[in-house]
Amino acid sequence: MKAVVWHGKRDVRVDTVPDPGIEEPNDAVIRVTSCGICGSDLHLYEVFGAFMTEGDILGHEPIGIVEEVGPAITNLRPGDRVVIPFNIACGHCYMCVTGLPTQCETTQVREYGKGAALFGYTRLYGRVPGGQADYLRVPQAQFGPIVVPEGPPDDRFVYLSDVLPTAWQAVEYAAVPPDGTLLVLGLGPIGDMCARVARYRGVSRVIGVDLVPERLARARHRGVEVVDLIGHDDTAEMIRDLTRGRGPDSVIDAVGLEAHGSPVGKLAQQVASVLPDPVARPVTEKAGVDRLAALHLAIDVVRRGGTISLAGVYGGMADPLPMMVLFDKQIQVRMGQANVRRWVDDILPALLRDDDPLGVDTFATHRVPLSVAPAAYEDFQQKKDGTVKVLLQP
Ligand SMILES: NC(=O)c1ccc[n+]([C@@H]2O[C@H](COP(=O)([O-])OP(=O)(O)OC[C@H]3O[C@@H](n4cnc5c(N)ncnc54)[C@H](O)[C@@H]3O)[C@@H](O)[C@H]2O)c1
Ligand SMILES: [Zn+2]
Ligand SMILES: [Zn+2]
Repeated sequence: MKAVVWHGKRDVRVDTVPDPGIEEPNDAVIRVTSCGICGSDLHLYEVFGAFMTEGDILGHEPIGIVEEVGPAITNLRPGDRVVIPFNIACGHCYMCVTGLPTQCETTQVREYGKGAALFGYTRLYGRVPGGQADYLRVPQAQFGPIVVPEGPPDDRFVYLSDVLPTAWQAVEYAAVPPDGTLLVLGLGPIGDMCARVARYRGVSRVIGVDLVPERLARARHRGVEVVDLIGHDDTAEMIRDLTRGRGPDSVIDAVGLEAHGSPVGKLAQQVASVLPDPVARPVTEKAGVDRLAALHLAIDVVRRGGTISLAGVYGGMADPLPMMVLFDKQIQVRMGQANVRRWVDDILPALLRDDDPLGVDTFATHRVPLSVAPAAYEDFQQKKDGTVKVLLQP
């Protein structure tokens, strides 16, 4: 089959690889019909090379059709249309039952002290082949796959794999008080969807920050007040001015570790990304730093006693944080990967409505064949050609 394969920093290719098959009794194999490219894939593309192995298959946002199931699988049948959550979880351990499939005790990658295994995501998360491919083997298929109705195009349901639950959890964790204001930093697919979910869930005022004109325009079009990071000296002051000097009640950071405007962190990441893997790995694991501009802005502007919700991924082990400000302002911080299955029942009603309140049908800016994945990665990273969300369609 064809698959998007990681070869090195900014080097992904479409290779011919062996078809996956059933390996465990509780596996399924699906034929992928669409799979998104995520901002998290861009981290693998750029800075997490030390944890990748040449040949790894990328992708963790698939929808497709069940081809085959193992003998222990009774919840799925060949022909079912399914969305596959990006985290792999068993559904019956203590953590899964608690609603934290990201911490699944069956699939935890203990060798590296990490939580649940993920599709298409570094050896820290189990090196499980991903879904930007013709076919995908789905471990723990008794729990993960979400069966969705036939009929609507893939766009309607594919974001249940990652974007929607990530945004839903970010908004939940942001705990915006009634009549409160939510600030969303970053208006990539995740931040954009956070703003949509927040509006859908009744948050009356959403302010969004980014520096890409098309992304600002997209959010503005859906009722978000937008602030351009570029073109003025003091974004924090501008946001305070918009919120009576007090600051927003809640802030979602949907930027993560590659934030624009963090020169020291950028240098450290660039150095780590060109070191040989055996050297880079311990450096990144023990001393690695993130580009923290967005998180620092969040800490600066959130109102006293407010909440910061981190959806953006961080991976540093030695990040300098202003503990005095966090403590003095009594800031609450919540974060983590999305517990996909935990939020599906909350989200599905919005997807089954004819009027598409979250605008998922038109969320993708690009739907392209798998064969052009290398160019699609580059365009998404460089934000060229108005690229916000790409669906690869094998
Ligand atoms: N928690 C989860 O489970 C989960 C799931 C999916 C994605 N993510 C993470 O969410 C983040 C965003 O993902 P995405 O798909 O939207 O990717 P993206 O890279 O397209 O989005 C990031 C956006 O932030 C903007 N930005 C950069 N620096 C900024 C700054 N200093 N201030 C404000 N905006 C800034 C960029 O212009 C871009 O639009 C990534 O870190 C990704 O890994 C987390
Ligand atoms: Zn993702
Ligand atoms: Zn579990």
